[in-house]
Amino acid sequence: MPVITCIDDLKQLHKRRTPKMFYDYAESGSYTEQTFRNNTSDFAELLLRQKVAVDMSGRTTESTLIGEKVAMPVALAPVGLTGMQSADGEIKAARAAEKFGVPYTLSTMSICSIEDVAAHTSKPFWFQVYTLKDDDFMRRLFERARAANCSAIVITVDLQIMGQRHKDLKNGLSAPPKFTLKSMANLATKWAWGLEMLGTKRRFFGNIVGHAKGVSDPSSLSSWTAEAFDLTLDWKRIAKFKEMWGGKVILKGVMDAEDARNAMSVGADAIVVSNHGGRQLDGALSSIRALPAIVDAVGDKIEVHMDSGIRSGQDVLKALAMGAKGTMIGRSYIYGLGAMGEAGVTKALEVIQKELSTSMALCGERDVKNLGRHNLLIPKGFEGDWQ
Ligand code: GLV
Repeated sequence: MPVITCIDDLKQLHKRRTPKMFYDYAESGSYTEQTFRNNTSDFAELLLRQKVAVDMSGRTTESTLIGEKVAMPVALAPVGLTGMQSADGEIKAARAAEKFGVPYTLSTMSICSIEDVAAHTSKPFWFQVYTLKDDDFMRRLFERARAANCSAIVITVDLQIMGQRHKDLKNGLSAPPKFTLKSMANLATKWAWGLEMLGTKRRFFGNIVGHAKGVSDPSSLSSWTAEAFDLTLDWKRIAKFKEMWGGKVILKGVMDAEDARNAMSVGADAIVVSNHGGRQLDGALSSIRALPAIVDAVGDKIEVHMDSGIRSGQDVLKALAMGAKGTMIGRSYIYGLGAMGEAGVTKALEVIQKELSTSMALCGERDVKNLGRHNLLIPKGFEGDWQ
């Protein structure tokens, strides 16, 4: 059993254990991957302000997100094809999140269905939806999420059209994988993964296959996106989805102060400042740089969460100190899942919580809710002075 000390250890194990097409799917940004890289490197530019001789006993990372108590303000982000990183991956990740006390967000593009995850967990989870042309499908999706007792829907607003990820095209990404000479050569080296997959029936897009009409290739993410997603989406339609759902709504993918104000005016309960992990608009600002202007615009009126680039508890601390009420992690837990299944997701959460708590102590903070700009050394011009 290797000694795991950080998220990068899990990443190395994930890479070794999981077929290349799925590891690459998680590890890609769109086009030149500039935004994907900047999401992490911009975190490194923000420094932490060390404080000494401050009582650091009795620290707590507990907080609330959209009114729900959480062990730390870190939710598991929706990630497509999670059940291809490890068999029944969504169930494993949801269970780890539930035991740890943080929200789990199930993706529409999951392998395990909403019903599968509900049957294997006991606390409500969040459900992520894409906005499709087919209102009947949307209505049924909301009904299924209600029946599964989901406590919020997370509407992804930045993926009506997919940013191209070169590796997915080169690898012929599909779920389940198609057996070509190239994919077979790689799959043949991933025995443990393959045996696990043979032991489950969940190998297709569980929320879509048998539920969506007119999808020519239900194993292909990109063909489903191109055929079914609604290019006409606007704020009026988002308001309509909020009404159709009738419960709490989080809008994910907001990078602009004006859009944040629009999100507020359609009655969102929270927004996630996110560039989709650098997977959509290549050339967009990193999320951590986009965050302050959005917090300034709406932060006292709506919950602002952020994702994209978080790989450590120090990153969580920085995002919270810059004004986010909560954070989401995607790749950081997917590495854990691909490396070691449910135990790996738990490990990722433990690593991040320990790093967060230790870094809080060294910054002279005992309560995660008290973090603020006073904990940071922010380089001049970090937030940009854009024309
Ligand atoms: C789906 O949301 C993706 O980024 O692949």
